[in-house]
Amino acid sequence: MSSTIAYIIIGISVLFILGIKLLASPKTARLGNLVAAAGMFIALVSLHQPNGDYVWGQGWSFNYTLIVIGTIIGLVIGAVGAYSVKMTSMPQMVALFNGLGGGAAALVATLEFLHGNNITAFIAGSMLFATLIGSLSFSGSIIAYLKLEGKFEKPMTFPGQNLLNGLILVVILGLCGWLTFNVSGGNTTTAFIVMFVLAVFFGVAMVMPIGGADMPVVISLLNSFTGLAVAADGFAINNLAMVVAGTLVGSSGTLLTLLMCSAMNRPVSNVLFGAFGAGATGAGGAAGDLAGKTVKPIQADEVAVLLAYAQQVVIVPGYGMAVAQAQHQVRELSDELGKRGVEVRFAIHPVAGRMPGHMNVLLAEANVPYDQLCEMEAINPTMDRVDVCLVIGANDVVNPAAREDKSSPIYGMPIIDADHAKTVIVMKRSMAAGFAGIENLLFYKDNTRMLFGDAKASLNALVAQVKAS
Ligand code: TAP
Repeated sequence: MSSTIAYIIIGISVLFILGIKLLASPKTARLGNLVAAAGMFIALVSLHQPNGDYVWGQGWSFNYTLIVIGTIIGLVIGAVGAYSVKMTSMPQMVALFNGLGGGAAALVATLEFLHGNNITAFIAGSMLFATLIGSLSFSGSIIAYLKLEGKFEKPMTFPGQNLLNGLILVVILGLCGWLTFNVSGGNTTTAFIVMFVLAVFFGVAMVMPIGGADMPVVISLLNSFTGLAVAADGFAINNLAMVVAGTLVGSSGTLLTLLMCSAMNRPVSNVLFGAFGAGATGAGGAAGDLAGKTVKPIQADEVAVLLAYAQQVVIVPGYGMAVAQAQHQVRELSDELGKRGVEVRFAIHPVAGRMPGHMNVLLAEANVPYDQLCEMEAINPTMDRVDVCLVIGANDVVNPAAREDKSSPIYGMPIIDADHAKTVIVMKRSMAAGFAGIENLLFYKDNTRMLFGDAKASLNALVAQVKAS
């Protein structure tokens, strides 16, 4: 490798790492995207080696025209997709793009395996790893996309499913092992194709039993798989930039998966094999305690008075705000209260909604100032000084069962302590459960009032009433 190429690879790596670092805050995320995209562009235009070390076999030649055509097709699909997708459909787009990345990594490795010459066991292992991981990431991401689109959202389970999946995996790994050591010794095409088809099927079988709302975790995990497949491709075709980029995606995807799981206090195994959300599970031991208890409804005009004369208000947005697309009305209400001297803050739970940063993205779209957004750890110690906590379409992330009820499926999950506020107003349409399918103890607390209705309609009424008060 020439020193020029080494410098380019170091430069690209720095851009990727800096891009990921900048993505960590809403203030710098746009710049982060641009910086990482610049790294990718440099990789695309600079790292082709017409006479280089590719392992292309006979009949395969380096072709700039194909690269330019591929790049243009990719740019057009990416730009049209990014401009036209609705903010609420962002997880679906990520799932599709991730699936395409995994599929591409699998195809590169497949072509190398089937057409390469003099492949060593190490290179064969890299190719098989990339094919296996890339193809299951492809099919798994497509299923994740369909689930997020509302198709077969519920976990699809049957007795012995995990055993069957385990058996398929054993067969796949057995074939990979055999192929690795027989790559140069005969006809391996049939075994390779069987392994490829089983890997695609395994991706489907792995994601089908997982509930729709766990898809962000699954996509993040599959994203890390895609990264690893790309890194393995990098070894196979001797492209260091792919090794670096793939490893970065693999490690950041793994970290994001673990962070989401710890924010839900659920191990990754529970997400993958627990069929969470398969059905309503009651409230654990607390279900009995709720017998005979009723909730106290409230009207918008009464809430408006409470808000208008409060000193401190905390808004807790959740999935229902996204469904109602009520983020603009939320900002209007916050501005209106701000004009009256009320201090308004937003409490952001790390897994509120259905994707990482879901609430941040929606509130940023509505131009809510970043300094009003507070993370759960920062806001919780201040909740007992809050006059009114307005819970807008959030449910599980404010359920005190996570603290109080050891038998609850969400016991131990960190929550926003909405119940510590002097008054809690919960805005939702009915008494329906959230993603976890359990009763919410918050609704029955003495200091809680329920404002029933679609969040957008209720907020419109609140804004009008606050203006009039
Ligand atoms: P949820 O617990 O899912 O509750 C959302 C609530 O919004 C529902 O109770 C629903 O009640 C209400 N709602 C729906 N449409 C509405 C509308 N148009 N107007 C007003 N309310 C509406 O949401 P959450 O508190 O944000 O919790 C997120 C859940 O997803 C957690 O259990 C979390 O573990 C899980 N999860 C999240 C992620 C990420 S990364 N965010 C990943 C995996 C799992 P009604 O039907 O009665 O209105």
